[in-house]
Amino acid sequence: MAKGTTFTTLLFFLLIITFLSIAISTPTNFIKSSCSTTQYPTLCVESLSTYASTIQQDPHQLVQTAISISLNKTQSTKDFVTRCKNIKGLKAREYAALHDCSEEISDSVDRLIRSLKELKICKIKGEDFNWHISNVETWVSSALTDETTCGDGFGGKALNGRIKASIRSRMINVAQVTSNALALVNHYASNH
Ligand SMILES: *[C@@H]1O[C@H](CO)[C@@H](O)[C@H](O)[C@H]1NC(C)=O
Repeated sequence: MAKGTTFTTLLFFLLIITFLSIAISTPTNFIKSSCSTTQYPTLCVESLSTYASTIQQDPHQLVQTAISISLNKTQSTKDFVTRCKNIKGLKAREYAALHDCSEEISDSVDRLIRSLKELKICKIKGEDFNWHISNVETWVSSALTDETTCGDGFGGKALNGRIKASIRSRMINVAQVTSNALALVNHYASNH
């Protein structure tokens, strides 16, 4: 009897938690329609929905969140590449590819940090919006180039096996997230 009650209570709470998490991550129409202009709309909706309550219907907040997601993903990919570089027994060319990649991805992180700073200025009254948003576009676009270059370095035959596969898939994912952020920035810039 007592056991049954505990189980029912547990089930009840699980149900509530499930409903709550669905409610929290339900994409708003604003996010959905904004994401429809990106190249990877499903990924876009997926990653932005978690922040729906912060974004509301604010295009500036949407762009800021998208770049921030891209930055965080790029940062964690950078950490992963750095860990891979420390694996013992790497061949010279594997180490070289990882080294190049970690420099590119560091640049990418720096550019995304700059673009977030620049985006903040766009909101300041009296500042030239068009100039600052075009800088944001430039930084995010070159961050994407760096990520793509790094991914391409792992596309050839220089590297084999698991490291190559896992770095490549991470780079593809992070580049897609950044590509979406760029599309949202461009859209924001041209609609202003
Ligand atoms: C990115 O990471 C920073 C620092 O850890 C955090 O404050 C911020 O909320 C994160 N951004 C997103 C969009 O998750």
